[in-house]
Amino acid sequence: MTEGNREWLERSRRAVWHPCTQMKAHETLPLVPIAHGAGAWLHDFDGRRYLDAVSSWWVNLFGHANPRINTALAAQLSALEHVMLAGFTHRPVVELSERLSALAPGGLGHAFYGSDGACATEIALKMAFHFWQNRDRPEKTGFVALAGSYHGETLGALAVTDVALFRDTYAPLLNRNAIVPCPDARTAGPGETPREVAARAAAALEAHLARHHATTAALIVEPLVQGASGMTMYDAHYLVRARELCTRYDVLFIADEIMTGFGRTGTLFACEQAGVVPDFLCLSKGLTGGYLPLSCVLTTDPVYAAFYADELARGFLHSHSYTGNALACRAALAVLDIFAEDDVIAANRARARRWAALAAPLAAHPRVRNFRRTGMILAFEVDTQRADFARWCFAEGLARELLLRPIGRTLYFMPPYILTDDEFGLLAGRTLEIVDRA
Ligand SMILES: Cc1ncc(COP(=O)(O)O)c(C=O)c1O
Repeated sequence: MTEGNREWLERSRRAVWHPCTQMKAHETLPLVPIAHGAGAWLHDFDGRRYLDAVSSWWVNLFGHANPRINTALAAQLSALEHVMLAGFTHRPVVELSERLSALAPGGLGHAFYGSDGACATEIALKMAFHFWQNRDRPEKTGFVALAGSYHGETLGALAVTDVALFRDTYAPLLNRNAIVPCPDARTAGPGETPREVAARAAAALEAHLARHHATTAALIVEPLVQGASGMTMYDAHYLVRARELCTRYDVLFIADEIMTGFGRTGTLFACEQAGVVPDFLCLSKGLTGGYLPLSCVLTTDPVYAAFYADELARGFLHSHSYTGNALACRAALAVLDIFAEDDVIAANRARARRWAALAAPLAAHPRVRNFRRTGMILAFEVDTQRADFARWCFAEGLARELLLRPIGRTLYFMPPYILTDDEFGLLAGRTLEIVDRA
């Protein structure tokens, strides 16, 4: 390791408390100091590079230091960096709201902004709760989430997250919400199709709502793919049934597309594959192409109308200082321009098929289980005895110029869309070497 890398990782260990990390682990597993990024590659201070196969926590869509997003941001910098959004407005936030609403499933015409993904979850939960208060149904306070759900790590979001490692320590601080079965396609019995698994899970949701709808404010789901609990994939039929049940039982439907949005599942939004319109659509991550923190909750006329009144307290009195930040909105507009100009969704369809073909030897490896793909996300479990697989695999990846970040024994690829076939071939080939040694 050169002085450059060593200096930055030591200074970082002393001064920076890193997220989602047992800091002591960095006594043996060094941090990776990144000097610059270009396309799908991250470069450290001593000239090594890493292929960003996880899009830097699923945010990057069009590569690091993307010239088109850079240009848009530079132009915005000289016009307006930020202004508070209470009492003020600006061009990027208006244009972005109009364009998101035109692109989202029909009828989601009101955009409320936050910064990180968890802010969007908090906004949707609070709005759903407050909606029923304003509608004189104060008993509707509960939420329903799916087994294995992940909606963020602030206290409200954690209360609808079902990942024990993140949740259990804070359990006494969290509201109790209901967890219903997940339609995980891997749980299919012999001869059972993913659609039948979805129907089975929907029947459990129906039984729950039949009993508890009077006290339930909303159902929250990650449409088609549950990311953080291990890239659990399920059939769109579940979303169709969940939408029907929510409508029938007067329960609001929150689609958390913080990870699945912006093309990850093959369509711009995962909900499109089920033809459903949620009451709340939560967006973040890819929204700014991985440039700046921005999140957004889109909602419907009836929800908006329930808050529109003469009394201040009936309004949605929620805010963050950087709500609707002009630079972040401008980055998001540049991302939407790229989607339109490059017909990204159509190009991705062909790209995903080529990636699946390049990953075929990996899918056929005797240690690989449940190889699966939804759109631009590929995932599989590795059959290994290594208790430290995730950590070991991360280090093996770095040694082969790959940024891989397994979740337990689940390995997945969620790279930026600009990855070339050669780069994907390199990713699949070097991952195969790692799986071989697992
Ligand atoms: C589905 C989903 N919801 C919410 C979040 C939280 O987003 P953030 O980490 O930006 O707070 C994530 C992050 O991974 C996510 O995948």
